[in-house]
Amino acid sequence: MSSYLILALFATTAWAQLPDGPGKAETERVCKQCHELERSLSPRQDRAGWQATMDKMVALGAKGTQQEFNLIVDYMAANFPAPAVPRLNVNQARAVELESALTLTRTQAAAIIQYRTKNGDFKSINDLKKVPGVDAAKLEAKKDRLTF
Ligand code: HEC
Repeated sequence: MSSYLILALFATTAWAQLPDGPGKAETERVCKQCHELERSLSPRQDRAGWQATMDKMVALGAKGTQQEFNLIVDYMAANFPAPAVPRLNVNQARAVELESALTLTRTQAAAIIQYRTKNGDFKSINDLKKVPGVDAAKLEAKKDRLTF
């Protein structure tokens, strides 16, 4: 590869390219008032994370209307989301994996394994909720992290 081509590749990736979509124009205008747009786009985070960034920038003095700020948060959450976390298969998971994915105690994770060993594979979140001593609301809140 010629050094020109390498330079050209660097040049294209170094510039922030905003994907098209609602909120693009507002983001472009508001998020480069104080620093380079690249800096604005650097985190990959979920909606709550982008909302926190937005709040911080408003506190620092970002100018815009509430409607524009909401649009920007939507735009960022849609185009620069947190990296997808692979789902955990409940029927193959080890206790430590259940513990961290579902933020359970060691005892609760062990109870799931024990229940699975005794009763066979879980078919759905409802099966999982039958495990004694495990908080059903907590499981419900994390169900998108799981496969069966
Ligand atoms: C009024 C000026 C201003 C505007 C407008 C602004 N920022 Fe910032 N931004 C800052 C300052 C100052 C820092 C450095 C803050 C620090 O180091 O604590 C910063 C830092 C950041 C960082 C680095 C991480 C962090 O949290 O410190 C991100 C990401 C960021 N801005 C995103 C954005 C986005 C997205 C927008 C558009 C909604 C935006 N900024 C608009 C002033 C601004």
